[in-house]
Amino acid sequence: MNLNIGMIGTGSIGLVHLLSLKKIQEDNLLSKHGVNIKILGVADIDENKLNNLKRNNPYNVEYFTTNPDEIIKDKNINVMYITTPTKFHKDYYIRIAEEGKYIFCEKPLAFTLEDIKEMISVEKKQGVLTQVGLVLRHCPILWKLKQILLENNEAFGMRLSFIFRDAQEWPIGSRIHPSEWRKDPSLAHAGCLFEHSIHDVDMLEYLFGNDSKLSKLFAKIRYISPLTQKRLEDVATIKFEYEDGFVGDLISIWNKVRMDVRRIEIFFENGYVVLDGYTGFSFKKFEYLIGRKKTRLKLNEIINEYLKEKDLPQITPSTGLYFFENLHFLESIIKEEKPYPGLEIGYKAHKIIELAYQSSRENKMLSLN
Ligand SMILES: NC(=O)c1ccc[n+]([C@@H]2O[C@H](COP(=O)([O-])OP(=O)(O)OC[C@H]3O[C@@H](n4cnc5c(N)ncnc54)[C@H](O)[C@@H]3O)[C@@H](O)[C@H]2O)c1
Repeated sequence: MNLNIGMIGTGSIGLVHLLSLKKIQEDNLLSKHGVNIKILGVADIDENKLNNLKRNNPYNVEYFTTNPDEIIKDKNINVMYITTPTKFHKDYYIRIAEEGKYIFCEKPLAFTLEDIKEMISVEKKQGVLTQVGLVLRHCPILWKLKQILLENNEAFGMRLSFIFRDAQEWPIGSRIHPSEWRKDPSLAHAGCLFEHSIHDVDMLEYLFGNDSKLSKLFAKIRYISPLTQKRLEDVATIKFEYEDGFVGDLISIWNKVRMDVRRIEIFFENGYVVLDGYTGFSFKKFEYLIGRKKTRLKLNEIINEYLKEKDLPQITPSTGLYFFENLHFLESIIKEEKPYPGLEIGYKAHKIIELAYQSSRENKMLSLN
């Protein structure tokens, strides 16, 4: 089997995926399945970007085009990445699904829940497999956090409360996010909660959703900076309540401070977990307490444990968690298994976010059911 890959959108995240795919190729990580991968074609509406990429062609791309249709219709391409600004995800998704290709689609999936439902129904109708770029689900550090919760369930005692804080520099013209589309509501739709803390909302489901269901939320969304245009929130605070009484807060911020870090605290009757200065593939502090007994976690030990768990050789995952999400996607295709996380998981995160906007507008606590 050959995985012939196409990509639409060769900006920041597109390149991270290309780099991850290159590493998977170079380390022969799919050879045990007898599979070769090839980046067949990439499309972007920005010709300069394509020319820059073409110059050294570090990813051995076979062809470059400013016409995405060329890639969508290319019968030789069986795997597609959608890595454009959010506005275009749904339309590209549907057109690619109709061609029967496997799809990796970046988050946020689309502007409305109705749009995502349409994507889910096309996925079912066409029988294609989709993975959504909710990449924290492939983060070894958060995987370890989940293991800690599971393994110490009894010792921790009843879960009491949590604080999630996601603070990011306005992702417009910044070092990590040089492009400008995130300041345009017609391309980005919404701000910090929708565009960035969708990952955190999804993490709440990943970490806490199994024990007892999220039942209610109350949100305050604010539009402060002139950049917000009253549609791109730069502050979102949400209070969550679960069926078992577990309560907690998510704070999502975009401001002009050069940071892109998260902090997670979880409180139990007999325990406490803190992950501070977390950036996706690093942290300042990760420890937990049971009574007075403290356990500190080290990044290299977590990565080694994760590699073992995933039955991977001792590799340096150069693009961090993105490397793992790409590997999972390709292996799922090879095994004809549903990739994780799929559209339904994405839909749930979008649904919670929509409810948060509604709660803030109506100044009301809302129920999830
Ligand atoms: N999962 C993650 O951690 C993560 C991280 C960053 C971005 N993202 C998501 O990925 C998407 C892209 O973000 P980015 O930071 O790479 O943006 P970017 O601006 O760096 O790149 C977008 C690229 O798409 C191209 N493009 C724009 N409109 C297009 C169109 N209609 N057809 C084809 N190409 C088009 C642009 O020229 C640009 O090269 C967004 O939805 C964003 O939310 C996800």
